[in-house]
Amino acid sequence: MSGEAAVSAPGKTILFGEHAAVYGHPALVAALDHRMTVTARASTFSERGMLRLEIPSLRIARTVALTQTVDAVKEPGDLAILAVTIGTADLIRHPDGFHIRIDSTIPAGSGFGSSAALAVAVVAACRRACGDDIAPDEIARLASSIERHQHGRASGVDVQAVLRGGVLLCRLSDDGFLEREELPGAGARLDAFRLFHSGVPNETTGEMVGAVRRLQDREPARVREAFETIAAATRDGRAALLRGDGAALVPLVLRAEAALEAIGVVPGGVIEAIRAIEAEGGAAKISGAGGLTGAGAGLVLVAHAEPEWHERFTPPKGWIAHRVRLGAEGLRSEIAA
Ligand code: PMV
Repeated sequence: MSGEAAVSAPGKTILFGEHAAVYGHPALVAALDHRMTVTARASTFSERGMLRLEIPSLRIARTVALTQTVDAVKEPGDLAILAVTIGTADLIRHPDGFHIRIDSTIPAGSGFGSSAALAVAVVAACRRACGDDIAPDEIARLASSIERHQHGRASGVDVQAVLRGGVLLCRLSDDGFLEREELPGAGARLDAFRLFHSGVPNETTGEMVGAVRRLQDREPARVREAFETIAAATRDGRAALLRGDGAALVPLVLRAEAALEAIGVVPGGVIEAIRAIEAEGGAAKISGAGGLTGAGAGLVLVAHAEPEWHERFTPPKGWIAHRVRLGAEGLRSEIAA
C-alpha cells in the first residue's frame, strides 16, 4: 500500500463558554486562520512498521515503531504519535510505514487550538493516505479520544471548531454527544474582537480543568454561579450574532471575564492588564483554559465596537497581536508538496 495526502486544519478561539463547556454548558467557538498542515505518506518504508515524524518548526525528527503505544503525552511529538496510533487503529489493512510532516502557524499550548488541529489533521491525513475517505463524525470521535489523552476530561468543542470551521455553538449533552449549531456568516460580525497572545501559561489545559474541578468540590455555589454567568453570556452572544449585532458582544466579554476570574483561571498579571483595558473603555477575556501562576494566560480577546479604539490601543507589555480572520474554513485538503 502506498499513498499520500495533505490536509490542513485551522486554529480556534473560544468566544464564550470555556470551562463551563466541560460541564454541559454551551460554548461559542470560532475557527481562526492560523493553520496546521499535515502531510502523510503511507508506504513500504525502509524499516517495516515504522513511523517517521517531522515537525521542522519544533526541530522534531523522530522515528518510532508503529506498534509502540504512547500512554502519556510527555515528549514533544508524543501527541502526533498518539494521533497516528489511535487514528489508524481500526484500519483493515495497515501500511508498512508512515511518514508524517507537520507545519503550523498555530501557537502551541496557548488556547489557539493547536492540539485539536493536530488531532484532527493527523487522523484525516493518515486515513486519506491509506485510501480511506473517513467521515467527519468519525474524525471527531477519534480526535476527541486523542484530546482526552492529552487533557483528561474535555468537552470536545475545540475539535468541532477546527474540523467544521466557521462559528459554532456547541454543547456536550448528558449522554456525551456534542450538539452543534452552525452560525453561517457570524465570522463577519466579529470585528469588535482582536486577538493577543499574553504568553504561554504555566499550566496545561488538563491541569486547569483539574483545578476547576477541585474548586467545585470545595466551593460548589461559587462555581455554579460562575458557570451560569458564562452560559448566559454564551447564549446572549449567540443571539447577538444571529441578529447581526457584533457591538452587543462587548459587555458580554466583561461578564464572562469576571466569571472566569471567580473560578481562578486568570493569573494576577493578566487580571491587572485586563483592568487597565477596561479603564480605557474596552473589554477583554481569556480564551481557552487560562492559567494559574505564570505571567501569561495564552490567548486573550480584546473587544471594543470601534475600529479607531483598536488602532489607538497599546497592548500590555509582552502581549503579541495576532491579526487573524475569524470564522475560517475548517479541515480541508491541500495539494501535497
Ligand atoms: O485547550 P484550551 O486552552 O483551548 O481550553 C479548552 C477549553 C476548556 O473548556 C477549558 C476545556 C474543554 O475541553 O472544553
